[in-house]
Amino acid sequence: VSKFTKTESSGDQDVCLSNEKLDLPIKDLIEEQRRIISGLEDTELVSKPEFSSLVNFSEARKEPIHRWFKYREGFSPSLVYAFFENEKRVIDPFCGSGTTLVCARLKGIDTIGVDINPLAIFVARAKIAPYTKDDLELFSSFTDKILKDKPGKSKDVDLPKLGIINKIFPEDITRHLLELKTSINAIKEDRHRNFLLLGWLAMLESVSNTRKEGNGIKYRTTKRTPTGYVHESFEEWQRRFYGEDRRGFINNRFKSQIRMMIDDARAFSSIPESKAEVIEGSATHLSDLVSGDKASLIIFSPPYANCFDYFEIFKVELWMGSFVTSYDEMRDLRRNSLGSLWHANSITDPDIPGLYDLLDLVDQNRVWDQKVMSMLTAYFTNMKIALSEIHEKLLPQGKCVIVVGNSAYSGIVVPTDLILSKIARQVGFRSQEMICVRHLTTSSQQKKRLEPLKRYLRESIVVLRN
Ligand SMILES: C[S@@+](CC[C@H](N)C(=O)[O-])C[C@H]1O[C@@H](n2cnc3c(N)ncnc32)[C@H](O)[C@@H]1O
Repeated sequence: VSKFTKTESSGDQDVCLSNEKLDLPIKDLIEEQRRIISGLEDTELVSKPEFSSLVNFSEARKEPIHRWFKYREGFSPSLVYAFFENEKRVIDPFCGSGTTLVCARLKGIDTIGVDINPLAIFVARAKIAPYTKDDLELFSSFTDKILKDKPGKSKDVDLPKLGIINKIFPEDITRHLLELKTSINAIKEDRHRNFLLLGWLAMLESVSNTRKEGNGIKYRTTKRTPTGYVHESFEEWQRRFYGEDRRGFINNRFKSQIRMMIDDARAFSSIPESKAEVIEGSATHLSDLVSGDKASLIIFSPPYANCFDYFEIFKVELWMGSFVTSYDEMRDLRRNSLGSLWHANSITDPDIPGLYDLLDLVDQNRVWDQKVMSMLTAYFTNMKIALSEIHEKLLPQGKCVIVVGNSAYSGIVVPTDLILSKIARQVGFRSQEMICVRHLTTSSQQKKRLEPLKRYLRESIVVLRN
């Protein structure tokens, strides 16, 4: 019996721990976890290391259309294709940059995607739009025209209110980038404007002082070397990075991004007809958002229960692209973001298999642990709602494929794959397969402690049937 109790506080349900097990020696904590986790294992685990390079975006970086925008957290097209059979309609309720949708479009299959991140929605929409040969001609001439625009509009552009904008781009570069955006925004036809805007968004990181790394963005002016961090001054860095012709540097990047996108779109300008749609919203409201026929396949990778913040990592694009214009808007978006510490939840599902027994083993006295525990209860509560909605939208005999990674906090393993598989059964799915794709490493502090449980630290594919 879990020792979790629920208390009411300002209308929200909090989870309180009365944790007697903290005094357990590490050996017993390991045994206790093993007992709880093995109680969740009821589907044979098969190992398919051939999928290991497909659960990340590395393949997509080289594939036409998929490569238009680097969405590091995306999966690879070959992974999606591996689960296609005779699909009539494919849904991805956490579609991100639209890998699943592009795959379906390229095979002429109807498809729908949902995501809460307006940047991801924009990217996915621009990638699945049908582009004609005439469109592609126009894109070249638009690009030439935009790049010929004389400087001078910059006094009209509003700089984003992002506090660190002046550390990301020197001001003249920010202004030039925003001038380009203003020229693109003047294009009347949505499809045309969005194609060029995607090209513009996609090059921002490569012309900035930042790169995406780990859980956030890092400055290029700080480099890690074997002997420690080395800092270059912003002035020195920009002189070296942009060279003499600073506008030319940006214009060339933009031109080559658009050229690559036009080449890709040309190669795919005669793909079979299909219906494709991308909707902004939460997977927890899937049946309200997605109408029409049920899907034969629902395939997705939800956020992992690992505190990753999809808004932090894309903040340059979100602010520069005016997807967010204030910190309040940013906070509101983060509130729906599953698996992030910002995720606000007003309900807690008391019936999440194994979760509360595992959380009983976590140190409740540490603030960090408390935050993580709220994130985890919110994560699984919402994943249960999402899975129930997903079940509703799947045809009888349809297949649901979930790509997910497990995590560990303070020496306690969270076997997300097993918990989601159990929850899926609660909401009506049948389990078909549990595939271990690759093993994960953890922080060095936890590594030794978790050695006996390391087989649970993995990325997996959970295959379910309706
Ligand atoms: C692992 S990524 C999916 C990437 C995608 N498979 C691709 O290839 O681009 C998880 C996505 O879930 C989205 N997300 C987070 N919370 C969500 C929610 N409540 N409803 C729908 N999407 C959500 C994030 O914005 C992110 O794009």
